[in-house]
Amino acid sequence: MKATEIIHRVRCPDCGNERLEVHVSTAGRDEFRIACANCGLSMSVSGNILDSDPAGDSQLPVWEAHYRSEDQEPLLRALEAGFSDRRILEAHYPLVRLLGKIPCPLRSSIELGCGSGAFSLVLKKLGLVEEVTLLDYSIASLTTAQELFKHFDMECDLVHSTIGEAPFRAKAFELALSAGVIEHYRSRAARYSCMSKHLELASYAFLQAPVSSPFYWLSRTVYTAMNRGWPFGFERPVGIFEMHRLARRTGARVIGHDHQYFTSFPLFTRLHWLPMPGWYTIPFANEVAILARSQR
Ligand SMILES: C[S@@+](CC[C@H](N)C(=O)[O-])C[C@H]1O[C@@H](n2cnc3c(N)ncnc32)[C@H](O)[C@@H]1O
Ligand SMILES: [Zn+2]
Repeated sequence: MKATEIIHRVRCPDCGNERLEVHVSTAGRDEFRIACANCGLSMSVSGNILDSDPAGDSQLPVWEAHYRSEDQEPLLRALEAGFSDRRILEAHYPLVRLLGKIPCPLRSSIELGCGSGAFSLVLKKLGLVEEVTLLDYSIASLTTAQELFKHFDMECDLVHSTIGEAPFRAKAFELALSAGVIEHYRSRAARYSCMSKHLELASYAFLQAPVSSPFYWLSRTVYTAMNRGWPFGFERPVGIFEMHRLARRTGARVIGHDHQYFTSFPLFTRLHWLPMPGWYTIPFANEVAILARSQR
């Protein structure tokens, strides 16, 4: 992360000051601090990681445990298959199909609650976005994402922060995306501020989340039985109508919505060749996605 570039994007998460100062450390040019003379807040940058020292919440230990223990091999194999045949990615990632509706490549994106970073990796690898930034408050998730990018020889910037306090200026990015994040907020107000944050940070927002379909509840039951408990903490599915409503409340224009054709890796790597999956996969839709453009 270069100080000369990041300084034009950052903003103090505590007081909103946009005139932050860079203090270069003696350890080397890759290590510096970004400080706010107004309120005294200081954030460290080391290599490609900006750390705003975020506070946790009751859900954080769930994600830490998940990304510390999850075997990434199936994801790696599925992505490798996808990068050698784009139709595989299109069957699984509505993101790839929806971005076809806007002029690409976009210059920059930020993934809010990046987890493994797979969605941003797909963006970068397909050349849909030039510079990708990944944000998460879980260190285990950022480490997983860093390794995934390394495996595919791709570059990214990482930010250790909560979504609500992302230390960036309004419209610092062209696209803000998340997948599997908004359904973990309990109240409508919290879901609204999550959607708003996307549309504050970027002109375009992409969000993907599960719907309350029979397929979702069946997979959740099977997953719970296999793991002897539901490992993802609080999760309430978000319908496509709720996504539309939230986007419109922020004053955004909805550009398109879509759903995941095949949920599991074995299905999406084997069945992607089926013609016109769009219509017969809707009844089984597990996750829906929306692409919106900020009007402000
Ligand atoms: C279900 S996972 C995301 C899955 C991800 N799309 C992937 O492909 O691996 C949700 C992620 O959001 C992060 N997250 C949840 N709430 C957050 C918050 N308030 N601030 C920052 N990160 C958050 C979690 O740490 C976790 O990594
Ligand atoms: Zn400040």
